[in-house]
Amino acid sequence: MERKVYLIWVIIVLGQIHVYKSCIEEERKALLNLKTYLASEGSRQHHHFPTFDYILHTWTNDTTSDCCKWEGVNCTLTSAQVNGLAFLEYMYLPDKALLNLSLLHPFEELRSLNLSGAEYQFGGLFDDVEGYKSLRKLRNLEVLDFSLDAFDNSIFPFPKAATSLTTLLFRRNSMDGPFPVKRFVCLYYLLTISLRSSARQELEMDNQQSYLIHSQLFYSIVVEKPRAFP
Ligand SMILES: *[C@@H]1O[C@H](CO)[C@@H](O)[C@H](O)[C@H]1NC(C)=O
Ligand SMILES: *[C@@H]1O[C@H](CO)[C@@H](O)[C@H](O)[C@H]1NC(C)=O
Ligand SMILES: *[C@@H]1O[C@H](CO)[C@@H](O)[C@H](O)[C@H]1NC(C)=O
Ligand SMILES: *[C@@H]1O[C@H](CO)[C@@H](O)[C@H](O)[C@H]1NC(C)=O
Repeated sequence: MERKVYLIWVIIVLGQIHVYKSCIEEERKALLNLKTYLASEGSRQHHHFPTFDYILHTWTNDTTSDCCKWEGVNCTLTSAQVNGLAFLEYMYLPDKALLNLSLLHPFEELRSLNLSGAEYQFGGLFDDVEGYKSLRKLRNLEVLDFSLDAFDNSIFPFPKAATSLTTLLFRRNSMDGPFPVKRFVCLYYLLTISLRSSARQELEMDNQQSYLIHSQLFYSIVVEKPRAFP
């Protein structure tokens, strides 16, 4: 009988541990900093932009709230660290907002950053300290989706620093002129670049790469890396 009670107690304790495993505090704060920034960037662009408490409702100051369950946030199952961000699906930013990339540095496990939402939301990236090298801090970043934003050629230097990138999506933005393929050939694992251009995009061919171009509304450029790269 005593054994049974002990067993039940153990099960309850384990259950509690499981239930209360939530996101890490540092990342919860980092998400709130990001939210504060988005609210201020929104109001910089537009007088009537909603304040902090009226965007991303699930991203709350309540310290008991598990940020892994916030909208547009995914976490790893084991360490409960943020590995996916896609907040623009849940909020609207006025035209051509700028994203401060330093705000993403606390998310060491970030694998997927999806900045795709309604059209023309982000129009630029910056980092006061790291500059174009900003994304190197995100060592696990594999997927960058910049689709349906308003980025122009000024963002081309950024992805190069994200050395784990496999997928880079540029669908429907405001880039112009020849696509700077050379900027991307150094990315080892880069498998897919997808973009659409209103202007005619010329592609430089490179001996080591083969570029497949499907062209209707979108250009989809598949960069195939030779497998035997050192
Ligand atoms: C939550 O924190 C933000 C930023 O510090 C502040 O602007 C906001 O008023 C706070 N909201 C509540 C409900 O405490
Ligand atoms: C979270 O993961 C699910 C399932 O893999 C995926 O459909 C969703 O887009 C991800 N969301 C974010 C914010 O990365
Ligand atoms: C960008 O974010 C970093 C890190 O939080 C901060 O130190 C810096 O002041 C921010 N810059 C701007 C212009 O918001
Ligand atoms: C990014 O989010 C958009 C909007 O929710 C979705 O359609 C798209 O598939 C996502 N991209 C990736 C790479 O998962």
